[in-house]
Amino acid sequence: MPPPPHAAPQFIQLHQTDAAAVRAELAAGLLAQPAQVAPKFFYDALGSRLFDAITELTEYYPTRTEAAIFAQHGAVMAQSVSAGSVLVDLGAGSCAKAAGLFPVLRPAAYVAVDISVRYLRESMGELQQRHRAVPMLGLGMDFSSTLALPVSASDWLERHDLMVAPRCVFYPGSSIGNFSPAQAQTLLRQAHALCAAGGPGGGILIGVDRVKDKAILEPAYDDPLGVTVAFNRNLLLRTNALLGTDFAPARWRHVAFFNEADSRIEMHLQAEGAQTVRWPGGARAFADGERLHTENSYKWQPSDFDALLRAAGFGPVTHWTDARGWFSVFWGPA
Ligand SMILES: C[S@@+](CC[C@H](N)C(=O)[O-])C[C@H]1O[C@@H](n2cnc3c(N)ncnc32)[C@H](O)[C@@H]1O
Repeated sequence: MPPPPHAAPQFIQLHQTDAAAVRAELAAGLLAQPAQVAPKFFYDALGSRLFDAITELTEYYPTRTEAAIFAQHGAVMAQSVSAGSVLVDLGAGSCAKAAGLFPVLRPAAYVAVDISVRYLRESMGELQQRHRAVPMLGLGMDFSSTLALPVSASDWLERHDLMVAPRCVFYPGSSIGNFSPAQAQTLLRQAHALCAAGGPGGGILIGVDRVKDKAILEPAYDDPLGVTVAFNRNLLLRTNALLGTDFAPARWRHVAFFNEADSRIEMHLQAEGAQTVRWPGGARAFADGERLHTENSYKWQPSDFDALLRAAGFGPVTHWTDARGWFSVFWGPA
């Protein structure tokens, strides 16, 4: 009997149900010393599209390097990842990477998690049309607070008879680099718990950007066309929309550099001229040249990331890399 066709993905919207908490988080970041806004606030429908445009830039090597690793080693990876897994895609965005792996991984179901809910709905709607036999669940949630699946998602898995299917957590694009090593450890432990709650044979398939010369790293975050500038400044528009601030994006200069001591690219927005940013119930004065920290992107040595995965409960860990050793895709069984 062929599996039943699925006309549309199911969608569970959890993010921004608590707008007051989002406002409190943003205000606390603006009042911090130095000021900061978390990179998850880059992503609304426009931010997601700007990120997709970044992946097309010559300077932005991670996406095409990771794609080349999947193209070259996908069949071998598929020997590790159990066929018939529930593929849980963290920060799915356009869903393009997971979709490219459907033919080799042959998932029993696809669960896509993203904070950028409108964009996720569009991407999943298109993907479902191309894969009608695969049940799909979209989860609009912020996994930086918790990665635990909501009860409604467990109910959905149960309805599809998938509670004991292996779970493959898929986290490509080196998005793990947005988290400090300690935060990454916490997130990976939660990913391990998510896998362990499914059937045997689960694990994590995760893309990680590696330490390399800053002459390669820095242009990837500061392209001459200015797409990354727009991406970074879009965070100010998001903050204006969510908190009611009066940021004028044109008065903030994009700054990106490799911090070798901490092994991370840092992105900031730097005030061009002294200015006071106001919002309902608060204000923050910025001196000329003062920075608002918007993103870290940690770069890893493979041996350190291997140890991080093992400390989170995964193992034995294997990884695949490209010919230049710029990027790695790790597999860690749960
Ligand atoms: C750098 S993009 C990567 C997109 C895609 N997975 C790829 O590899 O090309 C990061 C994705 O994670 C999502 N994201 C970022 N922070 C998130 C969070 N805290 N919770 C859920 N999704 C998040 C963004 O909306 C975006 O789609």
